[in-house]
Amino acid sequence: MRTRYCKVDPRCPDAATVECAAGYLRRGQLVAFPTETVYGLGALATDEKAVKQIFVAKGRPPEKPLIVHVSSREQVYPLVREIPEEAARLMEVFWPGPLTLVMEASDAVPQVVRGYGSTVGVRMPAHPVALALIERAGPLAAPSANLSGRPSPTCAAHVRDDLEGRIAVILDGGDTFTGVESTVLDVSRRPFRILRPGAIPREQLEQVVPGSIEAAPSHALVRQTRPSTAMKVILLTDKPGDTSCAAVQAGEARGVAMAVHSDTWLDWANRLAVPVFRMDPDPVVAGVQWFGILREAESRGIETLLVEPYPEEGAGTALMERVRRCAGVDTDEVKA
Ligand code: TXA
Ligand code: MG
Repeated sequence: MRTRYCKVDPRCPDAATVECAAGYLRRGQLVAFPTETVYGLGALATDEKAVKQIFVAKGRPPEKPLIVHVSSREQVYPLVREIPEEAARLMEVFWPGPLTLVMEASDAVPQVVRGYGSTVGVRMPAHPVALALIERAGPLAAPSANLSGRPSPTCAAHVRDDLEGRIAVILDGGDTFTGVESTVLDVSRRPFRILRPGAIPREQLEQVVPGSIEAAPSHALVRQTRPSTAMKVILLTDKPGDTSCAAVQAGEARGVAMAVHSDTWLDWANRLAVPVFRMDPDPVVAGVQWFGILREAESRGIETLLVEPYPEEGAGTALMERVRRCAGVDTDEVKA
């Protein structure tokens, strides 16, 4: 299959380009499009045959549910049995934005979209291209637009690397805005439960629905992928000069690089003369950088990537969840 590649202005998408992509979707084909978090690989949510193609293109396990992306509140009603009052409040505050709400699904949602369960995850992305596309085509079932097991794509080149020849269209709207994926909140049960930490921190959700969200569980409930990169990712848990640096100094530096955000660790990296990936001190900005750094380091043949941690609060929580996943700290592995 030839993949059509279309550049589109991320802030003010050209109507003809969007309509062309919507046409492919109506004909049952797959379109990769930018959202504010990562690129999504979309099919019409009601087109079961098309949705099944997503799993083929990605090599994704068939039982893993897909998020349905909407462009208006009206599009949600036919997809779900009910919208809990507090969930409506969360939509009011955080939509459009990186919050996925898991609700009891209606019969209109194909089984394959729900991962053969009873619920559906719905979100309204805060990206003009995504919104324009959904407005024209209808709600889109879309996972991240990477091959199963690869880091989520934060630019169109990442999508191309993974899915060229496997999908009909790539809409290139440049870099995504946040990098870390949406927070997945299950509101089909009480108390609500965070299934995946993401771009909207728990603290912000709690401010809107105080007392409604279950305290943090001891293990991740949505089992996440450890990207299948051969590269080893190690967290720098000690201070500069301690053991992880000692290993580098002891001559194991071949193929080692460091991803750092503080001046202290940067000095160390420079002293050790290893390649450095600068991350932004702000975990929100670093979230956009992280998946790209993984891909870049991998393509440069880096064997071990030492990563400076971020404080695990606010936006740092979701970012560190992604980093830990690569470091193999979360051992429950299911490919996404
Ligand atoms: O930011 C994002 O969420 C991106 C963009 C494209 O919207 N999407 C994304 O999709 O990351 P995906 O499929 O790569 O990850 C979605 C996660 C999966 O872990 C999936 O299991 C979970 O959300 N999920 C989706 N629907 C669910 C449901 N009904 N019940 C439980 N978990 C669900
Ligand atoms: Mg994914």
